[in-house]
Amino acid sequence: MSYKIAIDGPVAAGKSTIARELAKELGYVYIDTGALYRAIGLYLIKNNIDYNNESKVISVLDDINVDIQFVSGVQNVLLNGVVVDKEIRTPLVSEAASVSSAYQKVREKLLGLQRNIAEANSCVMDGRDIGSKVLPNANIKFYLTASIDCRAKRRYEEYRAKGIKIDLEEVKNEIIERDNRDMNRKNDPLVKTPDAILVDNTDFTLSETLDEILMLIDNHGNKK
Ligand code: CDP
Ligand code: CDP
Repeated sequence: MSYKIAIDGPVAAGKSTIARELAKELGYVYIDTGALYRAIGLYLIKNNIDYNNESKVISVLDDINVDIQFVSGVQNVLLNGVVVDKEIRTPLVSEAASVSSAYQKVREKLLGLQRNIAEANSCVMDGRDIGSKVLPNANIKFYLTASIDCRAKRRYEEYRAKGIKIDLEEVKNEIIERDNRDMNRKNDPLVKTPDAILVDNTDFTLSETLDEILMLIDNHGNKK
């Protein structure tokens, strides 16, 4: 029997870092669903499609093929056959993914892929609608969050480490705007489902957060 762990939460809460480490610890597959929306965002930018224009975006969806492959357990995202994992981590792609992911057709396009991968493997999957939509029957669900200032600082440090020039206030505003869009959109908004366990890691290091989550999984029982 496969075991499924869903991790949802706002921007830069630590979802992907924690999910990756958790998957490593448990020997599960880690699936980063945000990367799929980012791949669509990248396509729109590269092809000069106005991502604010829903009908334009919908009109090119058939030209976009997004897929995932695992290389030594690490997820690679393929956009029309090309690995794009590095290119999708920019502020502009974040914005394009955030806007276009609100469109129902975009979400429908990626739903089957996410479910199929989860079907075949014990996995840790992170995103915004994993517990509520993609894997409503996940064995355990977490809603991972941290204060806005903490999350802004974390994302700012990441951009800086990559040589991306942006100031802290700008990063904070980007995060607030994206969270608002994710939480208030009509289609599959970010919500904490009643059965999700809230983990606020504002004052926790990565390893403390990981230990806490592992403990919660152990206490929850029925792990593979
Ligand atoms: O890592 P970060 O929190 O910056 O974002 P991400 O997880 O890479 O996701 C990029 C964007 O895709 C988010 O801003 C969401 O708008 C969207 N997304 C979504 O709508 N549903 C998901 N399951 C995952 C991401
Ligand atoms: O996936 P999400 O956008 O939720 O966040 P992330 O990309 O995993 O984490 C954003 C940054 O915060 C990463 O550089 C993490 O290493 C860092 N982080 C941290 O320093 N302490 C934590 N407790 C959680 C995340």
